[in-house]
Amino acid sequence: MKVKGKNYTSIWLKEEDEKIVQIIDQRSLPHEFIIEDLKNVNDTAKAIKEMHVRGAPLIGTTAAFGMYLAALEAEKKLEEKKENNEAKKEKTDELDEFNLFIQKAAEKLIETRPTAIDLEWAVKKQLEKINRKNSIEDKKITALKNAKNIANTSAEQCKKIGEFGFKIIKEISEKKRDTVNILTHCNAGWLACVDYGTATAPIYKAFEEGIDLHVWVDETRPRNQGARLTAWELLQQGIKHSVIVDNAGGHLMQKGMVDLCIVGTDRTTFTGDVANKIGTYLKALAAKDNNIPFYVALPSSTIDWELREGKEIPIEERDENEVKWIQGFHSGQMKKVLLTPEQSPARNYAFDVTPRRLITGLITERGICQANEKSILDLFPEKTIGEIE
Ligand code: MRU
Repeated sequence: MKVKGKNYTSIWLKEEDEKIVQIIDQRSLPHEFIIEDLKNVNDTAKAIKEMHVRGAPLIGTTAAFGMYLAALEAEKKLEEKKENNEAKKEKTDELDEFNLFIQKAAEKLIETRPTAIDLEWAVKKQLEKINRKNSIEDKKITALKNAKNIANTSAEQCKKIGEFGFKIIKEISEKKRDTVNILTHCNAGWLACVDYGTATAPIYKAFEEGIDLHVWVDETRPRNQGARLTAWELLQQGIKHSVIVDNAGGHLMQKGMVDLCIVGTDRTTFTGDVANKIGTYLKALAAKDNNIPFYVALPSSTIDWELREGKEIPIEERDENEVKWIQGFHSGQMKKVLLTPEQSPARNYAFDVTPRRLITGLITERGICQANEKSILDLFPEKTIGEIE
C-alpha cells in the first residue's frame, strides 16, 4: 500500500543486502516512519514480542524470515568455529549443530506471542521444509524461498479477501444509496499483514471501486492500534474515517450509524470461534443486538485445525504497564505518561473470543463461509481436523 505516494509492504529484504530483513517499526506510527533492520533471531523475536511488528499474518511472516536469519546465523557460527579450530567435526556433526540451532530458534520465535496461530504455523512450515534438506546450503536456500513464499501468499490471500468482502459492501451500498458506515476494531490493515490487510482489504477495494464509505475506527486500548495504525493507514489512502473511543460502538449501532462490522482475527477454531483483539466480543454482542452484520476477515493460515472450542485458545496477557501508562507524541518526541494511580494494579488481557453464534460470516481467500465447522470445511475440503497444516 502507499505511504506518501510510495508503495510499501510491511516487511521486505534489504535491497543492497539480502541478509537483512527490514520492517516498519509500528511503535512509532503515526508520528514517525522508522524502518528497522532485523539481523538475527534475537532481533526478530524481540520485534515480535515487543510489537515493533504485530497482527497475526505479519507475525507469521516475520517469524518465517526469522527462521531464514537463523539459518544464516547457524552457518556463520559453524564457520567461526572452524576458523578458530575449535573442533574438527564431521559433516554430520555440523548438520546436527545446525539443526539444533534452527530448532532452538523455532522455539524462541513460537513463544514470543501465544494467541496468533499464524506464528506457529509459519515457523512449523519453515522447520518442516528446512529439515527435509540434507546440506546447509540447501537448508539456507529453502528457508529464504519459503519465507518469500509465505510473504507473497499472504499478500495474495489478502487481495482475494478484499475481492470477496467487496461484494458485501457493494450490496449494502446499492441498497442504501448513501455512505456505507463500517466499524472496525484494532488494526487488521496492511500493517498487520504483508499488504492490503484482512478487515481493511474489502474497504480498500470498495474505495477503489468508487463506493462512498466511511470507517469508524475503534481506538483499541491499551496499545491503540486503531487510533494510531488504522487511522494512519486510512489517511494515507484518503479514506473517510473517524476515530472513536472503544465504548462508542454500541451507541453508534443503536443510532443506526453502523451498517457493517469487519474485524480480523488471531486464531479461529475450525468450528468458527474467533479470537481477536480485546473488545471484539463486545462489538459482536452489540452488532447482534442491533441486527448489524458482523464479519471476520481471515486468511486460512489463521484457522486452527486442531482446536474445536474458542475457550481453548490461549489468551495472551501482557504487561500491566501498557494499561497504566499511555504513550503519545509531544514536542517532537514520543512520551509516556502515567494514567492510573501508581499503586493500582492492572490486568492486560490482549484478546477475547467471539463465539461463532455472533458472527455473520468469515471472509477468506477462498470465499465467504458461515462460522461453523461444516461451512469452513466445505471451503477447505483438503484440511484434516487435528492437523496444523
Ligand atoms: O496485538 P496485535 O496488535 O498483534 O493484535 C492484532 C489483532 O488483534 C488483529 O485484529 C489480528 O491480528 C488480525 S490482523 C490482520
